[in-house]
Amino acid sequence: MKTIIEPFKIKTVEPIRFTNRIERQKILKRVGYNLFNLHSDDVLIDLLTDSGTSAMSAKQWAGIIEGDEAYAGSRSFYRFERVVRNTTGFRHIIPTHQGRAAEKILFSIMGGEGKVVPNNTHFDTTRANVEMSGAEAVDLPVAEGVVPSLKADFKGNMDLEALKVFIQQNGSHRIPLCMITVTNNSAGGQPVSMENIRRTAEICHLNGIPFFLDACRFAENAYFIKIREKGYGNMSVREIARKMFSYADGCTMSGKKDALVNIGGFLAVNDDELAQQARNILVVTEGFPTYGGLAGHDLEALAQGLEEVLEEDYLKYRIRSVTYVGEKLIQLGVPIFQPPGGHAIYLDAKDFLPHIPPAAYPGQALACELYLHGGIRSCEIGSVMFGKTHTETGTFKPARMELLRLAIPRRVYTQSHMDYVVECVGEVFKKRKSLHGMRIISESPVLRHFTAQFEPL
Ligand code: F0G
Repeated sequence: MKTIIEPFKIKTVEPIRFTNRIERQKILKRVGYNLFNLHSDDVLIDLLTDSGTSAMSAKQWAGIIEGDEAYAGSRSFYRFERVVRNTTGFRHIIPTHQGRAAEKILFSIMGGEGKVVPNNTHFDTTRANVEMSGAEAVDLPVAEGVVPSLKADFKGNMDLEALKVFIQQNGSHRIPLCMITVTNNSAGGQPVSMENIRRTAEICHLNGIPFFLDACRFAENAYFIKIREKGYGNMSVREIARKMFSYADGCTMSGKKDALVNIGGFLAVNDDELAQQARNILVVTEGFPTYGGLAGHDLEALAQGLEEVLEEDYLKYRIRSVTYVGEKLIQLGVPIFQPPGGHAIYLDAKDFLPHIPPAAYPGQALACELYLHGGIRSCEIGSVMFGKTHTETGTFKPARMELLRLAIPRRVYTQSHMDYVVECVGEVFKKRKSLHGMRIISESPVLRHFTAQFEPL
């Protein structure tokens, strides 16, 4: 088989700035060992996130000029609405400035004290929005989904038996909705099978519980279904995606991932009354229903991105290029979350640094060393993000896993950038025994990973 190449040429380039280890040591100390505080000019390869970091196409940029900025009834809104409706099949399409704004609206209507919300795994902002409403967010991933070294096709699946027990124990009146996150970003970027989506929806609907998708990476998930799940090989990714959405009553979407834009998102629902309530909040918090939190030109770029992301040459290249990084790291013996995910490679920091206990944040220690070593910025998804330290007793509750995510922006980096990343991770792996843990010296009560300050131990 021939090399799978980028299905595009590069038209515009942006220089990146080289720094040396001594400079990076000073910088890291200055930012309290929190990579979210870095100036991006001090980063060589930025794998902090795949969110909002995509390179837009010439057609998307053309859409930026085309955008109709009418306050109400913008032509760009109607194009956006048509494309989202074609892609998802949902009746009401409500534009928001990004995914978490859609979550905020949804959970301020459906959440609240005494409620519980199950998800295969909540992402951090989804969890925060559920909890801010007063409800409890509960993760029900399949058992194999939390064992990094285990290889399986659909490790993002919801644990259906656990879901049934959960509904029985809590009662459906306490469960305002159930969600599945595709792909499962907090657990290795792993896909969810069509069968699992179908059966989750069935269980929910039998119990009168609305079922939603957190659809940020729906196209990558649909491509995995095409290549891994029996019966989907001959179906187009567009048809697969449409089928995934057909089981749900609505979705939240961050366009910053699979709509290939730098900003934008939406909430889509079928229920007329829920849509009305959502639009009432939208007008107060985001904007008029035909622009939400966006400019007309953003809606154009989003509509165009949704068309491009379902092109199969693109998805083939996208999934292959992430797998490529994973395979190279495995060859070097580096422990990664298996198999490689759709948008990122997750290093298994627990296995990489067995001498650093979760309470000393191995993922953060690794993130810092990777920056010092190669100017690479990554993102800890472990006990800094999901662990909790009790303020009074000081007791520490670790996260399920200690992962370090190397998220790969869409259409941005070339194979040699990725080869460089692999070399750096390999070199850090060789000297892993010399790494030390970290200690948190200050933190905020919600989403502490964004602002916490650290000190090396
Ligand atoms: N849901 C999932 C699964 C996500 O990964 C994100 C964002 C959101 C919701 C929220 O969307 O950023 O547009 O408000 N994830 C980014 C990340 C930030 O780095 O994984 P948003």
